[in-house]
Amino acid sequence: MEFNILTFDILDSTNSEALKQARKGSDEGLCIVARQQTGGRGRYGRTWVSERDAGVYFSVVLKPRLEVEYLPLITLMAGIAVHDTLREIGIEPDIKWVNDVLVNERKISGILAETTETPNGLAVIVGIGINLTSTNFPPDLVATATCVEDCVPAEVTADKLIEILTRHLSHFYGLLASDNGPPEILEHWQRRSSYFDGKVVRVMLENETVTGTTDGLESNGALRVKRGDGSVAVIQAGDVEQVRAVG
Ligand code: BTN
Repeated sequence: MEFNILTFDILDSTNSEALKQARKGSDEGLCIVARQQTGGRGRYGRTWVSERDAGVYFSVVLKPRLEVEYLPLITLMAGIAVHDTLREIGIEPDIKWVNDVLVNERKISGILAETTETPNGLAVIVGIGINLTSTNFPPDLVATATCVEDCVPAEVTADKLIEILTRHLSHFYGLLASDNGPPEILEHWQRRSSYFDGKVVRVMLENETVTGTTDGLESNGALRVKRGDGSVAVIQAGDVEQVRAVG
């Protein structure tokens, strides 16, 4: 796929700009990049801290020709692309379901996928934030987040990361759209995530907290969590937390 990159100095949110452009009929592959975001958004309405030049703030417009049930695989696909981007610069990341990219259990990148109707069908906006520096992390992020600068000795610019990222996105998006795409994406995800199976986790849902051991993914990317009594919860969306043994 061809990517067309539009770079801004400052935006409220690259996802919001990409949604706007998609609704106006932009082509698939339009990428919105900003040096700074004043209203960077995370999942569940959280804020994504987006100081100037402290991270990659990137959103791409996709028009997937996928059966609706497989749309959630787009976020897994993006997580794989971010994982491989970081590995290419010498970082060994993990992916926490659904798409938090971690290094030594600290978050280095987050992905926010949003859908919108456009004049020519459904578009999915995949927004990716990658922390480059930690100098502006607010106190609550210091313990839970990390950044490229703290993981590799050489300086890596946002432009370099975007060049690598778009190459991996193009590859895995093409794979997802291919004949056997969905199971192949699941297999790639499994190979890159310690959360695929055997991890003791707690998942906060709206009305329930599920605690159990991860037990693979469903064909649409949903996470299976086996409870102590043997029953399996199928998680379509939610925040997963690793549970550590005490003592
Ligand atoms: C999360 O982990 O909750 C997802 C964070 C996604 C942040 C990125 S930064 C680029 C794009 N624009 C936004 O406003 N959010 C995404």
